[in-house]
Amino acid sequence: MAVWTAAAVAAVAALVMILAAVRGAAGKTTIEPCAGADTCTALLGYELYADMKVSEVAALFGADPKALLAANALDFESPGAANRILPAGLPLRVPTSCACADGVRKSVSVRYSARPADTLSSVADVVFAGLASADQIRSANGLAAEDPDAPLNPGVMLVIPLPCVCFNSTDNNLPAVYLSYVVRVGDTLNSIATSHATTVTDISNVNAMGSPIVAPGDILAIPLPACASMFPNSASDYGLLVANGTYALTAGNCVECSCGPGDLKLYCTPTTLTASCSSMQCPNSSLMLGNVTAQSTSGGCSVSSCSYAGFVNGTIATSLSSGLQPTCPGPHQFPPLMETPTAASHGSYLTPSPAPGPGEAGGHILGSGSNISRANGPSESVSQAPLANHPHQIFFLILSLALYFQM
Ligand SMILES: *[C@@H]1O[C@H](CO)[C@@H](O)[C@H](O)[C@H]1NC(C)=O
Ligand SMILES: *[C@@H]1O[C@H](CO)[C@@H](O)[C@H](O)[C@H]1NC(C)=O
Ligand SMILES: *[C@@H]1O[C@H](CO)[C@@H](O)[C@H](O)[C@H]1NC(C)=O
Ligand SMILES: *[C@@H]1O[C@H](CO)[C@@H](O)[C@H](O)[C@H]1NC(C)=O
Ligand SMILES: *[C@@H]1O[C@H](CO)[C@@H](O)[C@H](O)[C@H]1NC(C)=O
Ligand SMILES: *[C@@H]1O[C@H](CO)[C@@H](O)[C@H](O)[C@H]1NC(C)=O
Repeated sequence: MAVWTAAAVAAVAALVMILAAVRGAAGKTTIEPCAGADTCTALLGYELYADMKVSEVAALFGADPKALLAANALDFESPGAANRILPAGLPLRVPTSCACADGVRKSVSVRYSARPADTLSSVADVVFAGLASADQIRSANGLAAEDPDAPLNPGVMLVIPLPCVCFNSTDNNLPAVYLSYVVRVGDTLNSIATSHATTVTDISNVNAMGSPIVAPGDILAIPLPACASMFPNSASDYGLLVANGTYALTAGNCVECSCGPGDLKLYCTPTTLTASCSSMQCPNSSLMLGNVTAQSTSGGCSVSSCSYAGFVNGTIATSLSSGLQPTCPGPHQFPPLMETPTAASHGSYLTPSPAPGPGEAGGHILGSGSNISRANGPSESVSQAPLANHPHQIFFLILSLALYFQM
């Protein structure tokens, strides 16, 4: 057992070095110059480097666990959702608030507390999966002299600048949310476009690419069709954007908004996640948020609906609208929610300690049409199994090593 554990640790350490070697070279990142204090919703493409609890991934990015699941169209309402253990390698889209700092768009709300054996390189390339580079973390934290491969003092708090763009939250004049995607080994622009239901031309235009060549570690901005909101400036969720096929939680998790799959109109309803919510009934009406009544008349269909109008001063604003439509609408179609994939047990070795700090919780957005299949095995095991309890993973790590040293 002890032998296996040591082997696992060595293998993981070596894998970290391989990943760093692959990703450590300066990749290209699409940059959007900006001025002013506006922010937008953006998404970060993040691939889990270890089996991790939903709440651990969320803590890493200062996000709300349920909002993280919702943004990936994963079942966020099931009991215990935040404690599910997600399998290593799972690609997730993490909602973030894209701000303007030093004249370029970036997300600067994430804080990370260094753990023993962390280095700037391992934090950049492994923990944050290449979304930040060691150099960027160095300059964001005034650590110019720091060796990227020297161990950090455990507990030191780092700002992790993460790449994002807003581009007016539109693409070709249609609402869009931008995903920051780290190019992986084996990706081509064509495969990236296909897996995100977009085109090579669109990605090339957005990223101002001279040639359709991408290299591992490059970070592309990928526009995803989204539903825009029309909340007033005074709403705390002003500018809420929800990618097609996904959900967002807002108004203190009292309201869930979804986008698609049919039309790209934001549709919001009450959640059952929390009890203390302000009224969700439209004034002077019996209709609740999300309710639609339809009545056939000689002139067409008379439709009344009660919709969400933003979280204003801590209360849920609603708006009642009525009108005549040619035909009556059918029942609302929601984007399908997928079951959360789970790992059989918790590989605790590399999982991060929760990063405390003023991360921006809550969030919005995303998911592609990809169908995340459920991992086999017992889904509710929460044991703190060391990595050595995963002989197949150790085998994989050692195999990676063997292949690497043959190259
Ligand atoms: C930004 O998008 C809005 C629609 O959402 C559009 O009216 C406006 O012209 C766009 N502005 C720029 C600078 O593209
Ligand atoms: C939204 O997603 C649905 C289901 O994945 C898809 O059929 C539809 O074409 C998408 N809409 C747009 C505008 O991309
Ligand atoms: C609700 O009805 C009352 C009395 O009929 C009216 O004074 C008030 O303006 C109405 N409020 C709204 C929001 O329509
Ligand atoms: C109105 O919305 C509430 C909350 O979503 C729901 O429970 C209720 O069934 C809806 N009523 C009608 C008439 O659609
Ligand atoms: C929100 O509250 C502030 C003061 O607390 C008030 O000035 C403002 O008018 C309120 N806004 C709305 C839309 O009620
Ligand atoms: C996802 O996969 C399951 C089982 O493989 C299938 O029943 C379901 O229809 C798929 N969903 C989508 C959206 O492709």
